[in-house]
Amino acid sequence: MTSPILEARTITRHYQRGPQTVKAVDGVSLAVAPGEFVALVGASGSGKSTLLNLLAGLDTPTSGEVYAAGMRLSDLSARQLADYRANRIGMVFQTFNLVPHRSALANVELALYFNGTPRADRHDQAARLLTELGLGDRLDHVPADLSGGEQQRVALARALVKEPSILFADEPTGNLDHDNSERIAELLVTLNRDGLTIVLVTHDRHLAARRATRTVRLHYGRIADGDSGWAGEVAP
Ligand SMILES: Nc1ncnc2c1ncn2[C@@H]1O[C@H](COP(=O)(O)OP(=O)(O)OP(=O)(O)O)[C@@H](O)[C@H]1O
Ligand SMILES: [Mg+2]
Repeated sequence: MTSPILEARTITRHYQRGPQTVKAVDGVSLAVAPGEFVALVGASGSGKSTLLNLLAGLDTPTSGEVYAAGMRLSDLSARQLADYRANRIGMVFQTFNLVPHRSALANVELALYFNGTPRADRHDQAARLLTELGLGDRLDHVPADLSGGEQQRVALARALVKEPSILFADEPTGNLDHDNSERIAELLVTLNRDGLTIVLVTHDRHLAARRATRTVRLHYGRIADGDSGWAGEVAP
């Protein structure tokens, strides 16, 4: 039996807005085996980004637990959690979250700074990956001087450059034209074949259906009936 690399046990994330409680994630249990490529789909507002942030340890559930590589995230100190984020996971945010005053190259180098890569190696690794993503002639552009699709690829490069064990990506092809979207999809498939575990939010049916190994549908913060939270064998 394969043990999961990532597991959510009955997690919720509730937001209090005055008298109203928004149940953005409402009791999700999900286990991801190493090497899976999971597509999270669902209507706008169904809780996809909220769930992704919880799984990545960037947000804390209101109740329930997230386990990653055998560690319970709520047991980690702030330092251990920072280390987990810097070294083990890559995250592509729906809104990119690039550092505005830094160039594309510097944004990607920053991920290598945080994971302790020697200064001498940072430039080459960052430049190589950006070039592979078609941005070789945009290295010195700040985010404001890049198109949405270009910023998205910088965000992807920043997540991938540290060679994480799990890639979390929120709509990584959302701003791309067909050709670039296909190129990114193929890159993700290749990385997944090489062993990268991927959890990806997408509205792109082709990407979900043709590339992912499993699709999980969210509906009002819950996993929709009929979708399994776990594709592998599981102990009773
Ligand atoms: N900080 C917050 N305070 C209150 N409600 C929030 C907050 N963040 C998200 N929500 C609500 O939680 C629900 C889930 O939001 P989330 O961003 O996870 O949806 P999503 O599935 O990613 O949607 P989209 O496809 O539009 O990106 C939404 O109804 C949203 O309005
Ligand atoms: Mg979202």
